[in-house]
Amino acid sequence: MEFIVKSGTPEKQRSGCIVVGVFEARKLSAVAHQIDEVSGGAIGAIVRRGDLDGKPGQTLLLHNIPNLPSERVLLVGCGKEKEFTDSRYRDAAAKAVTALKDTGATEITSYLTELDVKGRDIFWKVRQAVEVSESALYRFDKLKTKSNNNRRALRRVVLAVPKRSDLGPGEQAINEGRAIAEGVRLARDLGNLPGNLCTPTYLAEQAVEIGKLYGLKTTVLEKADMQQLGMGALLSVSRGSRQPPKLIVLEYQGGKEGEAPVVLVGKGLTFDAGGISIKPAASMDEMKFDMCGGASVLGAVKAAAELKLPINIVGIIPSSENLPDGDANKPGDIVTSMSGQTVEVLNTDAEGRLILCDALTYAERYKPAFVIDIATLTGACVIALGAHASGLLANHDPLAREIGNAGKYTYDRAWQLPLWDEYQKQLDSNFADMANVGGREAGTITGACFLSRYAKNFKWAHLDIAGTAWKTGKEKGATGRPVPLLVQFLINRARKDGADMDT
Ligand code: BES
Ligand code: MN
Ligand code: ZN
Repeated sequence: MEFIVKSGTPEKQRSGCIVVGVFEARKLSAVAHQIDEVSGGAIGAIVRRGDLDGKPGQTLLLHNIPNLPSERVLLVGCGKEKEFTDSRYRDAAAKAVTALKDTGATEITSYLTELDVKGRDIFWKVRQAVEVSESALYRFDKLKTKSNNNRRALRRVVLAVPKRSDLGPGEQAINEGRAIAEGVRLARDLGNLPGNLCTPTYLAEQAVEIGKLYGLKTTVLEKADMQQLGMGALLSVSRGSRQPPKLIVLEYQGGKEGEAPVVLVGKGLTFDAGGISIKPAASMDEMKFDMCGGASVLGAVKAAAELKLPINIVGIIPSSENLPDGDANKPGDIVTSMSGQTVEVLNTDAEGRLILCDALTYAERYKPAFVIDIATLTGACVIALGAHASGLLANHDPLAREIGNAGKYTYDRAWQLPLWDEYQKQLDSNFADMANVGGREAGTITGACFLSRYAKNFKWAHLDIAGTAWKTGKEKGATGRPVPLLVQFLINRARKDGADMDT
């Protein structure tokens, strides 16, 4: 879809549809009021008749409004004006495009960008409009033989800005929004692809493709390379699978040569049946999403390369399946990680930390400024935070704060949990340096505790995206989170050279 910014009054726009907000109760926004005036009160009359009182989620499509060159007007309910916050704005923008996608309008002009959102400027509003619109129109139907989408599609969205001086920032916002949206789309596509198609080999091929497109250095470590490096933890997980494991590395150099990179490590478990500690059958299909951390790394690196951010970034994706097999990990098995530390595998379903720990040790060779790992690591995180926030744990508080701020700004939020020493002893093992599970209590924290033992030599944060990476139920599908958060983190670093950012 094409996005452009324009400044100008609505009564002069020749557009397939003009989108304006109406607040509760029946309060026309400034632009809706303007249209109302030129049309001789047509909008006000319709609203007074009671067809739309401005509640969030309401829309009303109008045709043939007098004295307007545009074919249609879409009224979008925005809720109480005083409560028009980030999420209401995002919902209104999403609602507008979904309401119009099955109409004949191929080009729309949205004035939602001119509504006041508490604490947000025009740049934020335009960028969010791009991201939200792309996301709302996303479909994954390439594996259906009949696509149910043969209508004229929305092709162009014009985003109105109040002043001519807003055009520059608006264009920049569209640029960023588009890059982020493309990163999100990539992460969603990879996540939604089933385990029989999206294998470690497939993920590696996709990384190589992205590398070619953007001139990145891409390396794929094979099983033999991992053996040589002593990645006994990662290899133990893949032993149960017929698909060979891959350790995918992408290097983006936008900064100075030798400048310490941000390293992103993403869990790329292309299907997690649990192994010998097998999962129950219900919802097991959703474990195809267990590579969403890896997919978010690909999405974020792609967006950063697209934006030509002046920093260095390394993406590392350990990738494997976790299946039961005669050669699979067994409860009680002890494996030796690349760090030399031994691990008693008390539960073969806690496999994410086993593949990640070796990837974290591997990350040391890049002498990173920061390492952020992203993983669908624990069901406990879904219980703790639900679908709204990713879990955030770190061994360096300023890093956690920067990530938290990037999450707030993008509405791709993360919430910090403590990584106190007291939790570490839950990982004690009678037979090895540590167990791979820490019992029922504080499962998200003990998962992070395990990883922290492999992150001692750098500043590190962990994002547990078990609750945020995909939606369950009727709208089942990958969300592309936390690509927006990650890209914002990288943008902030590029802009302020790592200095603390305000939200
Ligand atoms: N991929 C799962 C985590 C998961 C489960 C994410 C359900 C989203 C929904 C992970 O590999 C796993 O199985 N974790 C175990 C850890 C436990 C054995 C300590 C879990 O959460 O049950
Ligand atoms: Mn598991
Ligand atoms: Zn898993």
